[in-house]
Amino acid sequence: MGGLDMAELTNQERRMLRALQERNENWTLDEVLSACDWEDQATAVAAGHGLSNCGFVQISESSTTAIVLGSEGELALENGLLEARLWNYIQTDSQISMKDLSSQFERHEAGPGIGLLKGLGVSIQGGNFVSDDVESVSNSIEERTLFIQSPSINHPLFEHFKGRKNLIEVVEMVSRTWKITSRGLEVPRSELGEVTRIAEITPELLQSDEWKNAQFRPYDVSLEAAMPRSGRSHPMQALIERIRSIFLEMGFSELVDDYVQTAGWNMDALFIPQDHPAREMQDTFYLDEPKKIKLDPKMLADWKAIHEHGGDTESTGWGGEFSEDISQKGLLRTHTTVNTIQYLAKNPTKPCRVFAIDRVFRKESIDRTHLPEFHQIEGIIMEPGANLGMLVSTLKTFYAKMGYPEVRVRPAYFPYTEPSLEVEVKWRGKWLELGGAGIFRPEVTEPLGIKDPVCAWGMGLERLAMLVLGLDDIRQLYISDLEWLRNQPIL
Ligand code: PHE
Repeated sequence: MGGLDMAELTNQERRMLRALQERNENWTLDEVLSACDWEDQATAVAAGHGLSNCGFVQISESSTTAIVLGSEGELALENGLLEARLWNYIQTDSQISMKDLSSQFERHEAGPGIGLLKGLGVSIQGGNFVSDDVESVSNSIEERTLFIQSPSINHPLFEHFKGRKNLIEVVEMVSRTWKITSRGLEVPRSELGEVTRIAEITPELLQSDEWKNAQFRPYDVSLEAAMPRSGRSHPMQALIERIRSIFLEMGFSELVDDYVQTAGWNMDALFIPQDHPAREMQDTFYLDEPKKIKLDPKMLADWKAIHEHGGDTESTGWGGEFSEDISQKGLLRTHTTVNTIQYLAKNPTKPCRVFAIDRVFRKESIDRTHLPEFHQIEGIIMEPGANLGMLVSTLKTFYAKMGYPEVRVRPAYFPYTEPSLEVEVKWRGKWLELGGAGIFRPEVTEPLGIKDPVCAWGMGLERLAMLVLGLDDIRQLYISDLEWLRNQPIL
């Protein structure tokens, strides 16, 4: 046997080889199945494959195209084609009008159905259906019905049905035949008896002594196998977990807070002027409920002083008049900086490293790179001597741990930080802007009683997800396309 160990053959391969030895010709799938007494074609294909690997069998494959019915086609086979059903109904009474259709046909059927009849020469006059040549319409419909009963690629109606949705599908079918080789013929029958071979190692087997003398089936790692599909996290959730663990590892604590906030904390506390364009209705979702959220009068007075003339700081403020009503407007937070600033207000003197990964809202029109609801990765470091170098190296460390070692910063502007930075990451040779950062201004920190410098940043999570998952459309993250979700890498 040319060194081949017959013991390696599975029982199914043995059985198939015994069958093929009977007749030195091409065997079709059906012939193999019936000779081996199998039902599942996969069994025959696998056994044939194994025998061919040993050189006992030669496989010939040929592929042919065939038509099968699509979902609508199956329905049409059962209930009749839409045009046939509509036509039959119209034939029952010459007075049937467009309006009557709604009682007999689904709304989504009537329109396309009429379109089909029009294509066959039926017209609508005064609300009723009229046809010059009833017989020709009936014949055409009959012909279409015959097609659905036995569709064929060479039929003149093939193109027509191909253009209709879900009626037919063209499929590629592989047919195989198997033929024994001379080596296969030489294998003595006596070697082809069934053997007990262990394919699966179970606790019972291990507990018994049987395994000591058993034959084990070797794995064939070259065989195609189905991908095991089990439940898994959504890639967005997986990414959040990963970011979370990076910040935890870097000594940060996580902060979670509400979406619903006041304009006061979202903007005034951050020294965003009350006439700043980002505050407009077209950029921010203001709430009807709660329309107003009461704020501490002392806080309001401090912000008023800061905004109008700089309060006790060296700043001159924005000037103009500060409105406490505007401060107390309810809104959906537009950035997660609203959370870190409140954390600092509550803990103004205790050094901290805090991060948040949370949802924010802006009135954006949806497109390839924008969503009205998205997430930010926010963070602050407050401690004596905190400085820009520390801020930049923290962000660099974070992105390096995410797998993006090339990070650069550029000067930017935010009303609440000075200096302010834009953070960019190199991806596929290009620099992409991922967020903003800076050191909180005295106009922000002083009214809250904060003495140490605060490094702060806020970055887009979806933008980062696009890099990590290689997306060019942000919407892909939220359309729940199962096939896509299954094929995403495990982060
Ligand atoms: N809040 C800013 C944004 O939404 C980002 C930022 C956070 C900038 C903290 C500076 C400091 O884009």
